[in-house]
Amino acid sequence: MNIYLIGFMGSGKTTMGRQLAEELAYSFVDLDEYIEEKCNKTISEIFKELGENEFRKIERSALTDSFGFKDTIIATGGGTPCYFDNMTLINKNGLSIYLEIDVHTLVKRLRNSPVERPLIKNKTEKELSDFIFEKLQEREPFYSKSYFSIDNEIVSPAEMAKIIRSIDI
Ligand code: S3P
Repeated sequence: MNIYLIGFMGSGKTTMGRQLAEELAYSFVDLDEYIEEKCNKTISEIFKELGENEFRKIERSALTDSFGFKDTIIATGGGTPCYFDNMTLINKNGLSIYLEIDVHTLVKRLRNSPVERPLIKNKTEKELSDFIFEKLQEREPFYSKSYFSIDNEIVSPAEMAKIIRSIDI
């Protein structure tokens, strides 16, 4: 069974995913990294050269590829569950876990993040926090279709692994 980590940019899906995979002896795939390898371009290059709509199609195809993986933790991109019927498919093909995070913490993290993210590039502090507040509200209905939610700042990967083991998957 594959496990899909769901949540906004900066919610810690990749960090949690890597540690959780170790705890559970699962493989780990970061969907953005998978896309970058598949296309031989960075996510920023894909956005710049092909545009967001094309990126969403590539992302969808990477997601469908992941249904063929075995016992893998997949860190999705922040937008993955919110396009096409991706979230329905995720729930049909794996266990989804929403890494919920307080919006103020998110703003702080994304303001200081060294990761290049095309959607928030070149934004002033005010624009960044307005964007995060709005986008999170818009995306929450998709994220909350996850099988369950955890507060990533409270639940450790070891505790998370315990919860997953207690579910009969
Ligand atoms: C995006 C999130 C990014 C990446 C792309 C678009 C989004 O992934 O897929 O820049 O729409 O929220 P992370 O959530 O891993 O930063």
